Amino acid sequence: MQTIAIYPGTFDPVTNGHTDLVLRACRLCTKVIVAVARNTGKNPFFSWQERVHLTREALAGLTNVEVVGFEILLMDFARQCNAQVILRGLRAVSDFEYEFQLASMNRHLYAEIETVFMTPAEQYSFISSSLVREIGRLGGDISSFVPPNVVAALQRRIG
Ligand code: COA
Repeated sequence: MQTIAIYPGTFDPVTNGHTDLVLRACRLCTKVIVAVARNTGKNPFFSWQERVHLTREALAGLTNVEVVGFEILLMDFARQCNAQVILRGLRAVSDFEYEFQLASMNRHLYAEIETVFMTPAEQYSFISSSLVREIGRLGGDISSFVPPNVVAALQRRIG
């Protein structure tokens, strides 16, 4: 069976936790579409274009992975892509409540979609984009949390 999965997020910036999840998913699915939300509500640190570019660079070389930006309803985007699965990462129990709400709402909007949760490797379970941004801004070492292109982009931005 052909499985097209969408992995949506803000990716501000993409972390090793995200890339670990994509690596796992692309072994299970025919195609993984990493969908970078414009997400104006979050007031992102990196622009939408930068987030798409950094995520694309970080995942270059994975042949069944495509990185695209989207700014419409996720379920409309999923329909457009003929996707059957939404992938989300569950790092800790604290993620569950929000993820449960998101998955239920998405199913309400588009009953044919299934949300599949995956857990990242333990060494990535405490990483979040906002912590990475904060550590980077304050001059801490983020090289074990994000891909090298993101380290460079953060250093350039912070000067
Ligand atoms: N490794 C490391 N960190 C991870 C992770 C992983 N595997 N999975 C999630 N995270 C972190 C992110 O770093 C981020 O941390 P932060 O909040 O500290 O920045 C946090 O978990 C959540 O981010 P992310 O996974 O990017 O998801 P999101 O909650 O920002 O994304 C969308 C939400 C984009 C899926 C949702 O807003 C959406 O679908 N928007 C489109 C519009 C729409 O359809 N809205 C209606 C939805 S019902």
